[in-house]
Amino acid sequence: MPDTATLSQPILQIDAVTKEFDGTTAVDRVTLDVAEGEFVTLLGPSGCGKSTLLRMMAGFETPTSGRILMRGEDMSKDPAYEREIGLVFQNLALFPHMNVYDNVAFGLRARKRTEGLDRKVRDILALVGLEGFETRRTGQISGGQRQRVALARSLVTSPDVLLLDEPLSALDLKLRRQLQVELKRIQKETGITFIFVTHDQEEALSMSDRIAVMNAGRVEQFSSAVETYHHPQTRFVAQFVGETNLVEARAVSRDAVGAVLAVDGIDQPFSVPLVEGSGIGAGDSVWISIRPEYMTLGPNTDPAPTGPTLTGQVVSHSFSGSTVTYALDSAAGPLLAQVPFRAGEGHPFPNGETVQISWAADTTTVIPG
Ligand SMILES: Nc1ncnc2c1ncn2[C@@H]1O[C@H](COP(=O)(O)OP(=O)(O)OP(=O)(O)O)[C@@H](O)[C@H]1O
Ligand SMILES: [Mg+2]
Repeated sequence: MPDTATLSQPILQIDAVTKEFDGTTAVDRVTLDVAEGEFVTLLGPSGCGKSTLLRMMAGFETPTSGRILMRGEDMSKDPAYEREIGLVFQNLALFPHMNVYDNVAFGLRARKRTEGLDRKVRDILALVGLEGFETRRTGQISGGQRQRVALARSLVTSPDVLLLDEPLSALDLKLRRQLQVELKRIQKETGITFIFVTHDQEEALSMSDRIAVMNAGRVEQFSSAVETYHHPQTRFVAQFVGETNLVEARAVSRDAVGAVLAVDGIDQPFSVPLVEGSGIGAGDSVWISIRPEYMTLGPNTDPAPTGPTLTGQVVSHSFSGSTVTYALDSAAGPLLAQVPFRAGEGHPFPNGETVQISWAADTTTVIPG
């Protein structure tokens, strides 16, 4: 599936950017194109280089090598204040001695853009849902409201690009979910390009047009949220974005659209689709990723279902509302299966039970070994 967002001239181009801090490579040859109006997320574990990459876009750090272009112009050497880029950080620094209105107006006043200032400030406060809070001091509002002030303060100058470094991470889950939805709405309404940093994969999936999954300074995959979840290209991406089953397999043969795979514990080799340009050939060792929700469980006495099937034992199971997640032991290694659960059905499979585990072959993602 092609990503559509790359068609127009990119607003921001990160071209083979590397950042080294005496000996450590924080960002390692990252290349990304961001389209105008896009919501792009940098997703990855702590220390993988997300903030460093963002700080280079903002102009707070200079790349060791590589270029950063905005609308085609190299801005690697431009100081931060010359860039049409706004910033929202996790540890936001609002001015405590100023009220909400003056905090938001600050950027316009500092840039001497005072024409229509009152209208702009009030429009932005309405956009972030803070009408009526104009005269409150920042110490007299909640954490979520402070986060909105920080957002309003960055939005009011109409930057071309807004960089947001874990802006929601200090908030409790409920408020966080609410602000995720609002942030997405504001982004769509303003049309401003957002580069958003998080280590929360659910947040990334729910908000982004595209996600750049980072690991140890590198971007391992840059694709739409749906593509990232359903077609992870590396083992790291498969495991970091959602839960998955990773199983070793061997390609028995391959043709134009797919391959036939053999897996220990599964009697019959099975055909799976391959993404275009996949370099996998007959005889190669590969990994397959199957999401737990695509696994089906049945009694061991049932006739074998179509699709890859193996037997296993229930190690444990946990109930989470509408589903039950089983931890299973099988000849292919430990597996997870998440199956729908409805009231009155009871737990069909107790711990220790031998069950049949299967999935539809076309829900298998093949990852190079
Ligand atoms: N100024 C610095 N000097 C030396 N090393 C640094 C500096 N800034 C970052 N690093 C190192 O670069 C790597 C990437 O750091 P960075 O802050 O970009 O990670 P991150 O992905 O934002 O992590 P987190 O999710 O914890 O915020 C880390 O190993 C960090 O220790
Ligand atoms: Mg960081």
